[in-house]
Amino acid sequence: MPSSSGASAPTVDHGLVDLALSGLLQPQKMLPAKLFYDEEGCRLFYRITELPEYYLTRTERTLLRQIAPLAVAGLPPDAALVEYGASDEAKAKDLLSQRNAAGQTAVRAYVPIDVALPALDRMRVRLAESHPWLDVHPIAADFMQAIALPAAVAGLPHLGFFPGSTIGNLDPFEATRFLVRARTTLGDEARFLVGADLRKDPAILLPAYDDTAGVTAAFNRNLLVRLNREAGADFVASAFDHRAVWNNEESRIEMYLVSRHRQTARIAGRAVQFAAGETIHTENSYKYTAERFIEIAARAGWRARYTWTDPERLFALYLLA
Ligand code: AVJ
Repeated sequence: MPSSSGASAPTVDHGLVDLALSGLLQPQKMLPAKLFYDEEGCRLFYRITELPEYYLTRTERTLLRQIAPLAVAGLPPDAALVEYGASDEAKAKDLLSQRNAAGQTAVRAYVPIDVALPALDRMRVRLAESHPWLDVHPIAADFMQAIALPAAVAGLPHLGFFPGSTIGNLDPFEATRFLVRARTTLGDEARFLVGADLRKDPAILLPAYDDTAGVTAAFNRNLLVRLNREAGADFVASAFDHRAVWNNEESRIEMYLVSRHRQTARIAGRAVQFAAGETIHTENSYKYTAERFIEIAARAGWRARYTWTDPERLFALYLLA
C-alpha cells in the first residue's frame, strides 16, 4: 500500500541484506569484518587505536617514522604512492614528507583507495590545503577487486602502501590473491610497503581485542546496530556478548558475538534463530611470523627487500619488490 505520510520507512540496502543473510544462515553464523566500518564503526575503530592495550597502531607509527627515509630511498623520482584501505592520510604523511637525494619530495602523486567515499572526499580537501603540490587521485573501491590506476599516474614509479595489519583480516589464501592483484595493479617495477602484526604471546594479543574499557565490544556490537539501521534488522545488540579467542593452530585472533539467550532476529523479514550461547563469527585477525609473511609474499611473486620490527618485536613493516 503506498504511503502518503512524510515519515519515511528505513531504507534497506539489499546488497547488505544478502551479505548478512548468506553469513547468518550458515551452521557457524558469520558476518564479514569489512561491515564494521560504517561512520560509527570508523569512530569506534579510531578509539581502539588509542587504547593502551591496542599496541598495533602506535607501534607501527613509531616504526614508520623511523624507516620512512629508507622506504623511499631507492625510488626513482616522481613516484606515486598508492595506499590500500586509506581511511585517512595520517600514515601516508610520513612518506609524503620524505625528500630524495636531490632535495625534492620523493612522492608527487597519491592514490588513496578506500570503500568509504565520504572519507576520501574529506581527505582530498585536507590534502589540497596541507600538500598543495601533491596530485591526489582517490579511488572508491574494495581493495580485494582488481584496480586500474588512473592514467595520470600510470606512467610513474609506484610505491604501494598497505599499513595497519589490515592484511591480517584476509586468510593466507586471500592474502596471496590480494598480493598477486596488487602486483598487477602496481606493475613489475613497484615496491610495496606492508604493515602486519606479528605472532606473539596470547597474553599480549587477547587484551588488544578485549580491552577493559569495552571499546572493542562496542565496535563488535555496532555491526548489529548497523544491520538494524541499514538492513531492516531488529537485533537487540545488548543481548550479545563480545568474545575474543586466540586460535593457535590458525595463528589468528577470532572475534565473536555470543547470544546471551535463545532469541530470534529478523533481517528484512527473514527470521534467524539463536540458541543460548550460539556465536556469530565476526572477524579473523591473522598474526604472522616474519618468515611466514615473507613466504606468503613470495608465493604472490614479491621479494622482501627489508623487514623492520620494533625492539619488542610486536609489529613488522615489510618492503616488498
Ligand atoms: C583494522 C583489521 C587491523 O585486526 O586489529 C581492531 C581491526 N578488530 N580490534 C585488527 C580490529 C578489533 C583491526 N584491523
